[in-house]
Amino acid sequence: MSTDKPTPWTAARVSRCKGREKIACVTAADAATARLADNAGMHLILVGDSLAMTVLGYANTLPATMGAMLHHTAAVVRGVSQALVVADMPFLSYHLSLEQALRNAGRFIQKAGAGAVKIEGGAMRAETIRHLVSNGIPVLGHIGLTPQSIHTLGGYKVQGRGDTAGKQLKDDLAAVIDAGAFAIVLECVTQTMGAELTRLASVPTIGIGAGPECDGQILVSHDLLGLTPPDATPRFARRYAELGDATAKAFAAYRDEVLRGIFPANEHGYH
Ligand code: KIV
Repeated sequence: MSTDKPTPWTAARVSRCKGREKIACVTAADAATARLADNAGMHLILVGDSLAMTVLGYANTLPATMGAMLHHTAAVVRGVSQALVVADMPFLSYHLSLEQALRNAGRFIQKAGAGAVKIEGGAMRAETIRHLVSNGIPVLGHIGLTPQSIHTLGGYKVQGRGDTAGKQLKDDLAAVIDAGAFAIVLECVTQTMGAELTRLASVPTIGIGAGPECDGQILVSHDLLGLTPPDATPRFARRYAELGDATAKAFAAYRDEVLRGIFPANEHGYH
């Protein structure tokens, strides 16, 4: 029997999956969820700024701060032994200057223990991505629907429809790859566009609402686990469990037993 530990996932290893192996990714914001995802063999765990909505209760991702993202990234890192942990750089943490971007990305690597960071945006973020990569920080790109730009995009809509928008997406893809991203998230683009961008990309594409042809897929764990209310679950997400219902039932049963004096029972006491 081999006592060798499985090789942990790194940005370079994820990059080498292009054209060879599909990549399974999920978001997590706490150590317990991260441990379960890691044990299930997930390749990449993203501490997405969507935690501002799923965990912190905000209406969009813009209120996520460096403090919150560092706190949750460190928790996820503590729960993981194999998967690559990627920290999402929050709104305005990399927009002001190259120096600001490097300092904040460095905090995710040095203080929280992430293996890479994610940055939203295409050609306009290429210089930032190049600066981080040339300073030793692997970057996961993110184009298509970029939720930090929700106010300029005008809503959570499918991106890249029409010739001009389609060309812009291809230019963004090329710029982010040329800047050195090890892989790139494609969010909310048509299946045709997802397939075309995947064919054009020399690094893996990781789709979320971008069709089955992408090299990998990512889902927000709250959507996948059925913790998001059904009417707020995006069309592209599959609910693999209904933990929201199960949790509500468990809370109601516990409350009922406390009120009726059934819990705790004899076996729950110290004798
Ligand atoms: O914040 C997030 O969860 C993300 C994924 C949707 C890719 O960026």
